[in-house]
Amino acid sequence: MSEIDFSKIPAHVAIIMDGNGRWAKKKSLPRIFGHRQGVKTVKNIVKAADSLGIKVLTLYAFSTENWKRPAVEVKALFSLLVQFLKKEFAELNEKGVRLRILGDISKLPENARKELDKACKETAENSGLQLNIALNYGARQEIIRAFRSIAEKGITNPDEDDISNALYTAGQPDPDLLIRTSGELRVSNFMLWQIAYCEIYVTDRLWPDFSRKDLEEAIIDFQKRERRFGGI
Ligand code: FPP
Repeated sequence: MSEIDFSKIPAHVAIIMDGNGRWAKKKSLPRIFGHRQGVKTVKNIVKAADSLGIKVLTLYAFSTENWKRPAVEVKALFSLLVQFLKKEFAELNEKGVRLRILGDISKLPENARKELDKACKETAENSGLQLNIALNYGARQEIIRAFRSIAEKGITNPDEDDISNALYTAGQPDPDLLIRTSGELRVSNFMLWQIAYCEIYVTDRLWPDFSRKDLEEAIIDFQKRERRFGGI
């Protein structure tokens, strides 16, 4: 059995959490049960990432395309998010987790916005794991927003740093490892700029079943790869 090399932990791990619906379907349960279990996984994986020494963890929770889901499911997802922030976030705050939201939260229900603002403010000075939650997030929309802000600043000949600094992830390292659960081989409009040199790891495990051991396996797989960044 390979072991994790703690001197080579990826600094930034991004996860496309997928498969909540399929998990529920396999158990003949309504989809919302899958999302509920998915939130439990979120908490476990945040704690695991923190204890493994990952510096930045980004979780794709709600895309700009997810509004197409039935209104009851959308409502349930935001209510799970609010519950998570109210009931579980204090423990993560104590562990030094700092929260940042990637995406346009102005369209979210008011109570969700309020709880998110509160959690971001309360954790702003923390120096532990940087947790990014992507909500109403789309990478193309993020890039458009970046270009608009660059134009507003009067920068006419932007370079890579100008663009990176205008994204929601400004000041953070790009992801080293992108994990997608439940087997789909898609990028789904997620961090298109930031994943330029990222290693991609797809597992068949459905998000509600994804465990610390699965995260460790993804890291071990990542550590076996040779990253050349275009060199030889
Ligand atoms: C993917 O499963 C899951 C989502 C789109 C939602 C993820 C959101 C949460 C776990 C809840 C709130 C988040 C936080 C951070 C507390 P799917 O529904 O696309 O599954 P399927 O492809 O099997 O249908």
